[in-house]
Amino acid sequence: MANSNLTNAKTAKNDEFYTQYHDIQKEIEAYLEFNANAFRGKTILMPCDDPEWSNFTKFFAQNFERFGVKKLISTSFAPDSKNYKSDYQPTLFEVNDPQFDEKKTVKNGKIFTLTRDKSGDGKIDVNDLEWEYLKGDGDFNSKEIKKLRDESDIIITNPPFSLFRDFLVWIVEANKSFLLIGNMNAITYKELFPLIKENKVWLGATNFNKGMYFKVPSDFVYSSTYKFEREQNGEKVSRVPGVCWFTNIDHGRRHQLLPLMTMADNLKFSKHKEIKGKDSYIHYDNYDAIDVPFTDAIPSDYNGVIGVPITFLDKYSPDQFEIVGTSDNGLVSDEYKKTPGLTKEFVDDYYKGGGTGAYKEGNPTAGFYENNIAKMAYKRIFIKHKRPIQ
Ligand SMILES: C[S@@+](CC[C@H](N)C(=O)[O-])C[C@H]1O[C@@H](n2cnc3c(N)ncnc32)[C@H](O)[C@@H]1O
Repeated sequence: MANSNLTNAKTAKNDEFYTQYHDIQKEIEAYLEFNANAFRGKTILMPCDDPEWSNFTKFFAQNFERFGVKKLISTSFAPDSKNYKSDYQPTLFEVNDPQFDEKKTVKNGKIFTLTRDKSGDGKIDVNDLEWEYLKGDGDFNSKEIKKLRDESDIIITNPPFSLFRDFLVWIVEANKSFLLIGNMNAITYKELFPLIKENKVWLGATNFNKGMYFKVPSDFVYSSTYKFEREQNGEKVSRVPGVCWFTNIDHGRRHQLLPLMTMADNLKFSKHKEIKGKDSYIHYDNYDAIDVPFTDAIPSDYNGVIGVPITFLDKYSPDQFEIVGTSDNGLVSDEYKKTPGLTKEFVDDYYKGGGTGAYKEGNPTAGFYENNIAKMAYKRIFIKHKRPIQ
């Protein structure tokens, strides 16, 4: 019991990570560079947000006129519903407002809208946000927020990390344009991967290979192994590895082709010792595909299936490659599978050779023999060149 309380508190604490203004700006500018009217005339919903604490609403409010947004709506989650009880204090902005309600401030979420120059200063910005308490707590899965979702054109937020899978289902069923922050590992989720494969969802423009820093509550406690920056721009921050943007809004990076070398040149000149000097690329034992553990070592002249790490998606252009599946969850067409999963013999050899971890029963992880030793490749995405090289 004590343990599960601890885990819940930790999970909830990790949900109170706030996105920094400059990270939002950098990502949004990429969509505008590609299409200056990406947000023009649109109703934008930001659920799981709170402009008193977080930056999505602030950023869009400050750029409301420049982007030509029609209506901005953001909703926050009631403090009492959050599992993580930080030292919650309503802001002066709320307390000094005539509608302030001592009970509602903890039990209800809030809705903020921006449509007009309320202050009459001749411009529409963050000072023109109008707010009221929601009827409920602002849970994205409530009827009240679903109705707002269905009325909007674009949904943008960084949802709670612990509920990312539920949020994904929520957003996919809405069939709207969206931009979300999530974990890279979600790429192989059965709810998400088929959409990535069909080019209905892709990764955003900013690459977070180095991890992303989020603003954290003042009483946030770092784990004993945390070795990164704890303050940025005067704010307490924590670094989260493997974070990325998921979207279905187009941007220019998706249309830049990766410069690649031929297979022969890679084997001769690659900067990776795993490739340079070898006779050939490794072929999986259970898939008709070669293993390419580094995106920049994809051969330009190999027409078969290529297994690459999920970080490849950061560089993926649908103009250059097609995605045919993933080793995780068996989400790959049977035509590329040599066995339905890994054979018992292979798995036995793998553990005998000192292997650990990668294989789970029913999970057809990609495997291969190297110098007679059975090895597993971590999550792989299978791709093919879009235009076969003759
Ligand atoms: C990762 S934080 C991000 C906040 C903000 N969108 C940002 O990027 O700065 C996620 C927020 O969602 C809230 N939240 C947690 N569970 C929720 C739920 N079921 N419905 C709506 N919001 C929720 C958390 O309390 C937290 O404030």
